This record gives sequence, C-alpha cells and structure tokens, in this order.
Amino acid sequence: MSQGLVTASYIIAAVFFILSLAGLSKQETAKNGNLFGIIGMAIALTATILNPATSGVEWIILAMVIGGSIGIRLALKVEMTEMPELVAILHSFVGLAAVLVGFNSFIDIQPHEVSEIVVVLGQDLNTTLATAKAAFVEANAAQQAEHLTGAMLNIHLVEVFLGIFIGAVTFTGSIVAFAKLRGLTSSKALMLPHRHKLNLLAVVVSFILMVMFVQAGGAVTPLILMTLIAFAFGWHLVASIGGADMPVVVSMLNSYSGWAAAAAGFMLSNDLLIVVGALVGSSGAILSYIMCKAMNRSFISVIAGGFGNDSVAASGDETVGEYRETTAEDVADMLKASDSVVITPGYGMAVAQAQYPVAEITRKLREMGIKVRFGIHPVAGRLPGHMNVLLAEAKVPYDIVLEMDEINDDFADTDTVLVIGANDTVNPAAMEDPSSPIAGMPVLEVWKARNVIGFKRSMNTGYAGVQNPLFFKDNTQMLFGDAKDSVEAILKAL
Ligand code: TAP
Repeated sequence: MSQGLVTASYIIAAVFFILSLAGLSKQETAKNGNLFGIIGMAIALTATILNPATSGVEWIILAMVIGGSIGIRLALKVEMTEMPELVAILHSFVGLAAVLVGFNSFIDIQPHEVSEIVVVLGQDLNTTLATAKAAFVEANAAQQAEHLTGAMLNIHLVEVFLGIFIGAVTFTGSIVAFAKLRGLTSSKALMLPHRHKLNLLAVVVSFILMVMFVQAGGAVTPLILMTLIAFAFGWHLVASIGGADMPVVVSMLNSYSGWAAAAAGFMLSNDLLIVVGALVGSSGAILSYIMCKAMNRSFISVIAGGFGNDSVAASGDETVGEYRETTAEDVADMLKASDSVVITPGYGMAVAQAQYPVAEITRKLREMGIKVRFGIHPVAGRLPGHMNVLLAEAKVPYDIVLEMDEINDDFADTDTVLVIGANDTVNPAAMEDPSSPIAGMPVLEVWKARNVIGFKRSMNTGYAGVQNPLFFKDNTQMLFGDAKDSVEAILKAL
C-alpha cells in the first residue's frame, strides 16, 4: 500500500468516526453509529498494518489476535449492569498505552540515558538482548537526533511529558473508578485533609519537573518522578469523588482517555490517532459538561476532585419514619383505576433485568386506554443512557420515553408512579436537605403524584449511600422483592 493510499484511508476512517459520533447521539440512529465506528476502525487497522512504514507486523497481528480474543470473550460475557466497569477498565488501558508510548518515544530520542537503563536491565536480563537493544536504540537515536533539534526537540519533549502525565492520570483514575463501580471499594468520597492543596501541589511539582525535563534536553529522573506523581494524582482525584458524582467521573475519564490517545498520536506522528483522540476527548468533555448540568454540579469542582463535598454530612441508611407495604394484586388494582401512569426506572431494573415484563405491562395498560409514559433521569443506572438502552432492547416505543425535564411538570397530574429500582434519582432530599451528599441534584419529582409505588428488595440506600425520604411519604407504598418478580406478579394480576 502506498503512503498516499494510507493517508487517504486515514481520512476516510476519520469521516466514518465523525459519522459514528453523529449516529450515536440519537437512539434511532445509534445502531448505524456503531456500524460506522466498526467500519472506520476496520479501515484504520488495515491501513496501519499495510502501511510500508509499519514494521513488526507479525507482532501487531499476534497482539490483535490475543487482545481481540480476550475482548470478544469479555464482551459476550459482560452483563449490561457491568458495562460501566468494563468502560472504566478499557479507559485504563488507553492511559497505560499512552504512558508506554511516551516512554518509548523518550527512549527513541535519548541515547545516553537509555543506554544506562538498558545496562541496568541487562544486569538481570540476558546480555544478548541488552546488547541488541542498545545497538538498536543508538542507531535509532542517531537517526532521530538528525531530525529533532532546538525548538522541535523541545516541542517533542513537552509532548512526551504531557502524554505520559495524561496517560498516568487516566490509568490510575480509571482503575479506582473500576474498583468503585464494581463495589471493590466504597463509593464514598475519600476525604484526605488538605486534599485540594495536595492536588494543586501535584500539578505544580509536575510543571516544575517538566521545565527541568525540557531544560535537560530530556532527563530520565524528572520523567519518572512525574510519572509516579501522576499515578498518585489520578488515584486521588477519582478516590475523592463521591458515589453520586461518579457519572461525571466516568465521562471525564472517557475524555481523558481521548486526550491520552491524541497525545500518543502526536508522539507517534500519527494524524488519525490525533483526530480520533480529539474526537473522543472533546465528546467526553461535552458529555461531562451535560452530566454536570443535569446534576447541578460545577464542572471544575468535579474534575478538581470532589470540591463541594466539604460541608456534606452523609445521611447514612438510617430510616426516617414508617413505611407502608403493598402487594402485587393491590398495585394491579391501583393501575387499573388510574388514567395516567409514569414509570421511573433505575439501576435496580437493570440488575433485575425487569425491562421485558415492564415493556409488557406498558403494552397491556396502553391497550386498556391508560396513558403510560417513562421518566428517565440523566444519571439513572450506571452509565449514560443506561435506561434508554434497556427500554429500547425491550421494544418500548421511543415516543413515550421522556427526559426528566420533559416529565417533571406532569407528576402533579399523574395517578400512579412506579419507581422501579430507582433511588437516588427520585430522592426528595436532593431538593429539601442542603446537608445531603446529593443536595442540589435535580431529581424526578415523583412524590407530587397521587400514588407512588417503590419497587425494591429492602430499605437499603441507593448508590450515593443516602436514605430516601420518598419511601416514607404518606402517598408511597413499598412492593418488596426482585423487581422482575414483582412486575411479573402485577402482570399476572392485571
Ligand atoms: P440507585 O440510587 O443506585 O438505586 C438502585 C436501587 O435499586 C437500590 O435502592 C436497590 O435497593 C434497588 N435494587 C437493586 N437491585 C434490585 C432488584 N434486583 N430488584 C429491585 N430493586 C433492586 O439507582 P438510580 O436511582 O438509578 O441512581 C443511579 C445512581 O448511580 C446515582 O447516584 C448516580 O449518580 C450513580 N451513578 C450513575 C452513573 C450513570 S452514568 N448513570 C454512573 C455511576 C454512578 P435494594 O438493594 O433495597 O433492592
């Protein structure tokens, strides 16, 4: 394949990626969006492999076969509820790749320092490998040095430094997000004393190290020190963000992984990687901004590591009054007597996989002439659009699935609201209790309806770890049990 054809293929792939993003912005076109993305990536990979400048193709193919097999196996096995964790761990790979590309680029331009590393490595590894590697590095560096001098070298050094910094922050931040989303660590915010000063210190010290790195024409010590600081910084940044703010963190790490890929693109002088990285980086940033707006959080506060958590007193899971229980038969009677019903699903619907009986109940009630609509909170579930995906999967018509802003004014005129596995997203404490960790977050105002039915297995709290006064209100009744079993029981009674 000629170089011109490779460049043309990269441009076509970039156009497919842009079409993919456009398609993914609407439910109706999301499938096509995915298809465009797959085609774009297939073109990009083929062009890269056939590029005459690419060496070690057999290694690339071997890595693709191993990585692809693991990826396919995981993707087939993963439950919808585990998608956010999968996305988080994938972001960490992008971060780690940027760190490795960064060190590789550094090795390419630093013959002396690297020879030292190779010698150190050679003490443990077999000498033949070390000698061969040193020879390769020297030759490569000499070739690079011819091209990289003066300002160009400085620019490249800054690229390397920033690429490793962004990659390292993304790597450890994503691992903490993975651990939090998987429940391996508490979702509560880590509140280290002086944590904002620590974050600031990490940024300032890293900046000083960058100046030292560039002034020295690329020295290994500041680079390694910065990498360690960036690992700790990424870990701390995400650890200090509380459960309810995790959606913003997920989209923010999405954005970081894009910038990490773009940085790798600069280091490798690969235009397609720069374009794709910038697309992912900016779309992730836009999504984070939308999430922050939806949750009434300041964008800067969240990315700076949980600003605004200071005054918060965790409400814990203590009960706040008495609750009433109901039965599936009584709920069926209540629904039959209703003119309008709104269903507000949450993470519990995903866990129970209750979307199919929910779609069935919707169909049945509509056949009975009852107006049924869905109210979707922007952060319901565990990933952006989680509920929309599940409802689309169960073939619920798009036109009755409304966003929070579209439905909130209608609750006062609604007879019955079915809160199926939702908790934080319907918690009135967000509006009524300024000391709540979710204070200020707009929620679905379901308590304004005539009757509310809460589908849960217990009185446990939601993801943010805050008790929900909704479940203790006079017009609320609880239907305990797995959401799928409860909805199926109502369906039977209807
Ligand atoms: P949550 O507040 O997480 O509450 C889910 C509820 O579902 C729990 O109270 C749980 O109560 C119930 N549940 C779990 N399994 C169930 C089952 N099998 N059957 C019936 N009920 C079940 O859900 P939400 O209202 O959707 O809020 C989402 C939360 O996750 C927000 O705090 C949001 O900030 C956070 N978050 C969102 C995202 C994105 S991007 N959407 C990402 C990360 C975090 P029981 O245990 O008593 O059954």
